Amino acid sequence: MRIGILTGGGDCPGLNAVIRAVVRKGIFHHQDEFTGFLEGWRGVMEDQTTALSLDAIAGILPRGGTILRTSRTNPMKKEGGIQRCLETLKRHRVEALISIGGDDTQSVAYKLHECGVKVVGVPKTIDNDLSGTDFCFGFDTAVNVATEAIDRVHTTAEAHNRVIVVEVMGRDSGWIAIYSGIAGGADVILIPERPFDIDEVAETLRQRHNRGRYFSVVVIAEGARLLAGKDDQVAFAPGKKDEFGHIRLGGIGTLLAQELEKRTGFETRAVVLGHTQRGGSPTAFDRMLATRYGIGAIDAVHRSDFGKMVALKGTQIVTIALKEALSRTRVVGQDLIDVAIGLGEPMHATALKGK
Ligand code: F6P
Repeated sequence: MRIGILTGGGDCPGLNAVIRAVVRKGIFHHQDEFTGFLEGWRGVMEDQTTALSLDAIAGILPRGGTILRTSRTNPMKKEGGIQRCLETLKRHRVEALISIGGDDTQSVAYKLHECGVKVVGVPKTIDNDLSGTDFCFGFDTAVNVATEAIDRVHTTAEAHNRVIVVEVMGRDSGWIAIYSGIAGGADVILIPERPFDIDEVAETLRQRHNRGRYFSVVVIAEGARLLAGKDDQVAFAPGKKDEFGHIRLGGIGTLLAQELEKRTGFETRAVVLGHTQRGGSPTAFDRMLATRYGIGAIDAVHRSDFGKMVALKGTQIVTIALKEALSRTRVVGQDLIDVAIGLGEPMHATALKGK
């Protein structure tokens, strides 16, 4: 078969492992031929391709990023964009398309599927918030990067009697914050699922310091919302939106640090981990999950299981309808929030209650 592959949206460690698994199984077991579309949907729209042979994928398993590169291009927002994609796919005689990406990428895949393209999706988001799958590859790597950073911040915060606020990724859900915060022993964890009151966070730190601890570590997801009067606020760079309409986040950690210092008098610093969480080599867990997704995707193609996305359910790789995967954001559940509450000062429970 002639099969197209693309990687869209923000990159994350493990993309290359998916590409490698798809191409190896396709060539070794089905004599498939592969066309790689460069830079996500831009490559499909603008006919930018590369051949994916066994040589092209040699040695990419441990490499971060994606050999196909990526973009947040949205053909549905371009004049005739979908039509141009259809023409490119026809020109290359693509019989099936594997789209590796998050909900934005898969929404375009679903549109093309409605136009008759035989599509299989592979879930990818560093935020781990795609519904229908238990885990996305790349998330484990990000949690490990963040946990290591929190460990490092701990020792310097302790040495200086400081509060350090660590801002991690997580636009609509706080998976990275809650996992790395718990694993790194953070004193306060703030996530988008629970808008917080800044006075309650300040009081949590006071409680801790009153019992003789002179430093604290706060972990906050970039999309966490601060209750200021009646309005929820998220820190973002005004006017900066991508083609899928997402505002560029970043800065809530710095804002929180300033407010905490003002309210408590404790010297406070902020650290934004940003794209360090998405870079570098995938963990063994992510290489394994990405490889299983890749094998699942090529198997789905050869079963003609189209309009689907591969997913992890418990320990099994299954396929689910693309539509289901796009239906909602998977948020952090009360079970994990209760773990954070159980470990925290009594006031942390109030700060994590949400409004
Ligand atoms: O969508 C995943 C994500 O990593 C978010 O957590 C973050 O807000 C955003 O991408 C960053 O996007 P960019 O790489 O375009 O700056």
